[in-house]
Order: sequence, then structure tokens, then C-alpha cells
Amino acid sequence: MISIKSDREIELMRKTCTLAMQVMEYIEPFVRPGASTLEIDKLCHDYIIEHGAYPSPLNYHGFPNSICTSLNDVICHGIPHKDAILKDGDILNIDITTFLNKFHGDTNKTFFVGEVSPEIKKLVDVTYQCLRTGINQVKPGAYIGDIGAVIQELAHGNGYTVVEEYCGHGIGREFHEEPQVVHVGKKGSGPLIKPGMTFTIEPMINLGERYCKVLKDNWTVITKDGKLSAQFEHTILVTEDGHEILTLRTEESTTFKS
Ligand code: MF3
Ligand code: CO
Ligand code: CO
Repeated sequence: MISIKSDREIELMRKTCTLAMQVMEYIEPFVRPGASTLEIDKLCHDYIIEHGAYPSPLNYHGFPNSICTSLNDVICHGIPHKDAILKDGDILNIDITTFLNKFHGDTNKTFFVGEVSPEIKKLVDVTYQCLRTGINQVKPGAYIGDIGAVIQELAHGNGYTVVEEYCGHGIGREFHEEPQVVHVGKKGSGPLIKPGMTFTIEPMINLGERYCKVLKDNWTVITKDGKLSAQFEHTILVTEDGHEILTLRTEESTTFKS
């Protein structure tokens, strides 16, 4: 069952999503060469707690930390570690989920560490465009499959591949609700999109092949070929005439052109 949020529930979704977005803005200056992913985790953890919320990943099915930190060839679900030190030219995805007033808000962003090569910058830029073109499909009367269709087209058109094993998801009182939002597929397939739905879109785009493997820690997902992977995620509300991006950052409201 796909839950339809009431006006009151939508207000609470706005609040938790705004907090998740603020954590992302807060952490930005700390993402620099020499920082460890565990330091970044601790800063996010404390910020979330100080704002009266709980970091949803912490103890979620046994996840040991408060955020996911996915570096370079890590696709998603990277575990923060004191020995994972950022260096110039890396890319780091930080995935933040907050639980505030009984509702979850989920967002992630791939950061450049120092200066990255043009090849890497293009992968990250195209991945962001994949998220935005997917979001542009969201309106009542469209289908969930429309999202994956345009993401797949843009990624493949640039010579990249799309991870299929992990996907976006409904979100609200639960961290992961129905529907599954896959990032590949056919226009017109999947559930019909209706006002009051809230779900994430979070494409993972690979420079090489799409295949992944899970490390022995049972969390960290890496590319099978060792090449880079990038990701961006927003929580989206379906409105009467389109959508609202609940986790939109200040930097994004001015820079995006469709
Ligand atoms: N935030 C991730 C998502 O976008 C899920 C992380 S689950 C965790 O769905 F346990 F690894 F934190
Ligand atoms: Co998510
Ligand atoms: Co997430």
C-alpha cells in the first residue's frame, strides 16, 4: 500500500526534510582533504540530536553509524571509519536521513574533495541531472516508471550505467515504504503517481559497468569493476499540479535550469 499523506502529515514531512537538508548544508565545509568520514559522521550525529531529531540509519537493521559515507567506488551504504581519510580528487557521497516528529526525511549529495578531474566532474554533474530529470516527471497522472525511463536515457546517453539493485522508496512514518522507485525502466509502467505521495529518487550512476558487490561488513556496496559511482537523492512530495522537492538546498533553488 502506498500511503497518501494528510495535510498535517505533509507539514511534518516538510519539517524533517528541511532538517535533513540543513544537516547537508552544515556539513559541507567539513568535507575537505584530511577529514575522516568518522569525524563527518560525528558532526552530523551531534547536529541532528541537538535539533531534537534522531539519525534514522543508526541501528537501522544493525547499521552502526548515523550517516552513510560512500567514497569513490562505493555505490552506497558506506560505513564511516576513522581511517577513511579524504584526499584531493576524491568524491564522497553523504546520505543523511533524519527522524523528527515521527517522520523520516532522506537526502544525499556527492561532494568533490578539493579539485577533481574533468572526467569525474562530468560523472557527478550528469548524475545530478539524472536526479533532476527524474524529479521533473513527478506529477499526478504520471507513472513511477516514467522516472526510471528518463534517468536511464540520460545516463546511457552519456556512456554511463545505472545501478539496479538499489532504488528510491516511499518515505514517511517508515524509512522505507512502498513504492520502490527504480532508476531504469519503461514509461507508463509501475504505480500511478497521486497527490500526497512522498518518495525519494536517488539514482546511482556508474562510470563503468552497472554491477555491484557487497563487502564482508554486509553493508558497503562497491562497483564490481572498481570504477567510480556517484549518487544524488531528494525526498519529493506529489502536489495537486506537480511536485515539491522537500529536501531542496539553498544552492539548488537558484542554479538549476531544466
Ligand atoms: N539513506 C539510504 C537510502 O537512501 C538508506 C541507508 S540504510 C542504512 O535509502 F542503514 F544504511 F543507513
Ligand atoms: Co533513500
Ligand atoms: Co538516503
